[in-house]
Amino acid sequence: MDLLLLSLSCLKMGVLSFYLFLSCFLVVTHGSPSDCVGERKGILPDPATVSGLWNLIAVSLSPNSKYQSDDIAYVYSKVSFSESELNCTVFSNPMADTNGQLYEHERIPGTQAYKFKSTEELAENYTTTLFLPHPDILICYDREDNVLNGAYIHSRGASLPKEEMDNFLEWSKCNNLSNITVYNHTLNDAQECYGLFERSEDLKGIEGCETWGLVAKASNYADKNYHIRLLYSAKLELCKEEEAYTVKEIQIAGEEKTLMELKYKKGAKEDKVKLESFKTGTNLLLLGVQKDNQRTLFLASKTSKAKQAVLDDFEIKAHCFEATFTYLVPGSKEEESHAENQ
Ligand SMILES: *[C@@H]1O[C@H](CO)[C@@H](O)[C@H](O)[C@H]1NC(C)=O
Ligand SMILES: *[C@@H]1O[C@H](CO)[C@@H](O)[C@H](O)[C@H]1NC(C)=O
Ligand SMILES: *[C@@H]1O[C@H](CO)[C@@H](O)[C@H](O)[C@H]1NC(C)=O
Ligand SMILES: *[C@@H]1O[C@H](CO)[C@@H](O)[C@H](O)[C@H]1NC(C)=O
Ligand SMILES: *[C@@H]1O[C@H](CO)[C@@H](O)[C@H](O)[C@H]1NC(C)=O
Repeated sequence: MDLLLLSLSCLKMGVLSFYLFLSCFLVVTHGSPSDCVGERKGILPDPATVSGLWNLIAVSLSPNSKYQSDDIAYVYSKVSFSESELNCTVFSNPMADTNGQLYEHERIPGTQAYKFKSTEELAENYTTTLFLPHPDILICYDREDNVLNGAYIHSRGASLPKEEMDNFLEWSKCNNLSNITVYNHTLNDAQECYGLFERSEDLKGIEGCETWGLVAKASNYADKNYHIRLLYSAKLELCKEEEAYTVKEIQIAGEEKTLMELKYKKGAKEDKVKLESFKTGTNLLLLGVQKDNQRTLFLASKTSKAKQAVLDDFEIKAHCFEATFTYLVPGSKEEESHAENQ
């Protein structure tokens, strides 16, 4: 009984000192405008708390910043942090040029700042400092030639507590980082998408032409060819001639109709076409195609059918591909029991 009372009062004291701590903290962060200028500072965070996967939730940039937020379309990053080094690998959809890009930094001795190691001739003078208001929240402050010009707030989860977000927005305004972008995560992208797309060498092995039955496709634009009431099937035709590929998407509703025909040659960037195949199950093909700003992920199969588990997995992949529209070709779901009887 006494022990219980004792531990209860300890708990109360703990809560009280927590509130006292919190109110000091609030005074510091919500004080007069002059108090909010500059980075929120803490001790150098513990590497184990910083390293790992983070969802990017919001970015605030100075209007003078060379990079604006459409250059920063990444959705999550993998941070690897030590006393002397800070590496960030940024990820978005697997067709993006910046997907998987590594940014290396090294600590400036005697400070908490990490300097960006530029690979370009004209070394840019960028530094980053980190602040963790909470073990699940990471803020990176960027300076260019020692002028604060951007801040990035990340979360271990898919969102941030409203109060943290409000603090960040208020702080950003106070520091004239007025160009603010908020990223919306409907899933925990860092957890769901990391490692989901692995490049495959499937395409290299093509000899002549191959035909695959289309099972499903997902794209970042609506394709009205798939908004039809007729029963249809669809196929992909892939041809390879030396290093040049031709991809055809053909829909069959009574007669054959070529919906898309693209030519791709590795390394030839001027035609703005990208083709990438990703690892998937046997007798399946997972193909990413990008032309200008249109991006499509195709799931095809030798038998024109795929199991429910493959379709469920495709749904997540479509999300991570940043595709908003998903189309399932009628009759392409393989009935498990039916398959076993064959
Ligand atoms: C803010 O960012 C947007 C999107 O990247 C960009 O188009 C715009 O020019 C920026 N605004 C200012 C004032 O820099
Ligand atoms: C950062 O990346 C470089 C190059 O890949 C690597 O040598 C270094 O060990 C990395 N540092 C950390 C802290 O992961
Ligand atoms: C980078 O900026 C820091 C801080 O202003 C300065 O001390 C340093 O000399 C600069 N380095 C280069 C290469 O411009
Ligand atoms: C923000 O901009 C205003 C108006 O240009 C200026 O007076 C103020 O000093 C700036 N604040 C900071 C923190 O740079
Ligand atoms: C996130 O959602 C808000 C509100 O719906 C919207 O204004 C904003 O543009 C979205 N952000 C992005 C990066 O799409």
